[in-house]
Amino acid sequence: MIMNKIAVLTSGGDAPGMNAAIRAVVRATVYHKKRIMGVQYGYQGLIDDQIVELNARSVKNIINRGGTFLKSYRSKDFMEKEGRQKAFETLKKHKIDGLVVIGGDGSLTGADIFEKEFGFPCIGIPGTIDNDIYGTHYALGFDTAVNTVIDAIDKIRDTASSHSRLFFIEVMGRDAGFIALYSGIAGGAEAILIPEMLNEEEKLLKKLKMSKARKKTSNLVVVAEGDQSGGAYELARRVGNRLPGYEIKVTILGHIQRGGSPTYFDRVLGSRMGVEAAEALLAGKSNVMVGIKNNKMIHTPLEKTIKLNPEMNRELLRIAEICSI
Ligand code: F6P
Repeated sequence: MIMNKIAVLTSGGDAPGMNAAIRAVVRATVYHKKRIMGVQYGYQGLIDDQIVELNARSVKNIINRGGTFLKSYRSKDFMEKEGRQKAFETLKKHKIDGLVVIGGDGSLTGADIFEKEFGFPCIGIPGTIDNDIYGTHYALGFDTAVNTVIDAIDKIRDTASSHSRLFFIEVMGRDAGFIALYSGIAGGAEAILIPEMLNEEEKLLKKLKMSKARKKTSNLVVVAEGDQSGGAYELARRVGNRLPGYEIKVTILGHIQRGGSPTYFDRVLGSRMGVEAAEALLAGKSNVMVGIKNNKMIHTPLEKTIKLNPEMNRELLRIAEICSI
């Protein structure tokens, strides 16, 4: 199939670096003398026909901005066949031949179902601060989010050590502990609790009990929101009951982790993934997600990226353990 006009959208939770990817998709398409459309509000914009034509200048001054210039949405309508039918009709109406979807697990699932249902060519770009996508070592936004978290952890450390307090810091990661693990190591956490590791609470209590004897002046525990402990407040309450000698505080970092100017890493990654996705789609490739492994761009079938989970690097858990003695 010859691709004359393609579209790009961002879907699900926004992530810093999405703008760099949109910009690269747009400019690569224009570079290859094809037309490019921007869909606003993710899949919902396909259903509601919120589509605008873009050119190289439409994406000026966005590489440095967090969020997504095309807006994003978690579309419930697109989960229904009826919604997807409407989306397909909108694409036909605008004579669009292919679609680049930038988003996380749910968004890539949508692209896979859509392509299979209507035979409509789709290519995915992984964009989620959670980094929980199979087929890439890094998803857009992860690096920026971790940097945001360690900036916060550094600040919390100042006050924690001044008062000799124990802090529980909850970071994002609905089903995965990547942000917690990387920021925990980089922020010098005493302990890191992630959904991939079960039954860690007794170990944590043991560690905290020994902490005074080890002359630690502050204790920072990083907890992924999806951890089985039930969140930082719940965990803090249980630990407080068992270790009354500690003055305990809780900080939930929340949505600040999703915003902010992207790091150089996310800007370069977004640019690489955007060019790769546009060129692959224009060359007739589809139903894959572009990703990066060992600094090389790779393609993975969408179906695989959805069904498989990325592996947590066990060596990093060992590093965290050793460095927190
Ligand atoms: O995009 C991923 C994520 O930030 C998760 O870490 C978090 O659980 C979720 O999105 C929050 O989603 P929302 O912004 O819709 O509340």
